[in-house]
Amino acid sequence: MKKKSKDESYQVLGVESSCDDTAASVVKITNCTHNKKIEVLSSIVLNQNSLHSEFKGIVPEIAARAHSERIDICTKEALKKANISVKDIDLICVTSGPGLIGGLLSGVMFAKGLAKGLNKPIVGVNHLAAHCFSVKMLHKLDCPYLTLLVSGGHCQFLIVKGVDNFYRLGGTIDDAPGECFDKIASFLGIGYPGGPIIETRSKKGNEERFDFPKPMYDSTFNMSFSGLKTAVKRETENLIKKQGGLYQKDINDICASFQKTATEIFKLKTNNAIKFFYEKYQNHKSLAIVGGVAANEKIRTELEQIANENSFNFFTVPAKYCTDNAAMIAFLGFEKYVSSNFNISDLTVKPRWPLDKISKPILGFGKRGAKA
Ligand code: KG4
Ligand code: ZN
Repeated sequence: MKKKSKDESYQVLGVESSCDDTAASVVKITNCTHNKKIEVLSSIVLNQNSLHSEFKGIVPEIAARAHSERIDICTKEALKKANISVKDIDLICVTSGPGLIGGLLSGVMFAKGLAKGLNKPIVGVNHLAAHCFSVKMLHKLDCPYLTLLVSGGHCQFLIVKGVDNFYRLGGTIDDAPGECFDKIASFLGIGYPGGPIIETRSKKGNEERFDFPKPMYDSTFNMSFSGLKTAVKRETENLIKKQGGLYQKDINDICASFQKTATEIFKLKTNNAIKFFYEKYQNHKSLAIVGGVAANEKIRTELEQIANENSFNFFTVPAKYCTDNAAMIAFLGFEKYVSSNFNISDLTVKPRWPLDKISKPILGFGKRGAKA
């Protein structure tokens, strides 16, 4: 298909299936040159929580099957909600990595089939890059900007310079914070996914009751969360041994104390990252937080305060765009398309696909560097 003139409108379909959410979205983008207008006409997310909760974590094979069973239903729903026909789609954008290979294959094969059948262009999108660009979908924000990307599988400080240009300052050397929220909720027996549940419980708890450790609480940009997770587990086991079980108050206090500790780690590390960023880019004082854990109100509020203290502008997105969604995939795919910053190799599924192609992998305890 020929590219449209830059001032016409595009209806972009996004497809996302990299983890345990099957998502499809239609985003309408008008006036690409001046005062670009971006409208999310629909954003459908079919989560798989009920399929994975009995296993207390995501089972890749179950996720892959569920994606392939639901992806067409999800897309139909997105088109219906957007009130458009599939023929009105101008561009198809699909997550091709990083993530679980089975889910990625379900999404990419589906999107390729659709693109071929409709004779429409297709762009493969990096899921992490799409999280980073989610703030640009909703706010006017120029590159470069500093981002904390914090989710169930990742935790990194990145300088976002362009659609395909990222510099990683540092990140977790072991677990991702979202994974800790999920595992802690799992051993406390309070449900899955843990993030929103722990946040709700924390509101009723005493965050001062337990003094959990803050590993790597130093002047670097790297972080470590697995020791914190283990400390919370030990404290839980000690209480059970002592009392024969946990009271609701104990659970609430553990949640609040853990959430406070994780927030303090983010605050210090964000402050470090802001100082570094400011040294390099004094005219671009913008901090964004994105990814599932960025939905947490306490973390958002406290990081906004750190931004304010450093005279930085603070950006984030509503919770529904922090967690996995396909609107962000459509938006970044579109940005790549109009800037001719895409190629066929983007459509090869990539379980690992680092954003920063130059910085060395962060050395941690995962087999090939940090797990997240
Ligand atoms: O970005 P996302 O939807 O998927 C990944 O790409 O990983 O993030 C999911 C993660 C889960 O671990 C979930 O527990 C966490 O985000 N999460 C939260 C909150 N909402 C979701 N963590 C803390 N507080 C929340 N309110
Ligand atoms: Zn994600």
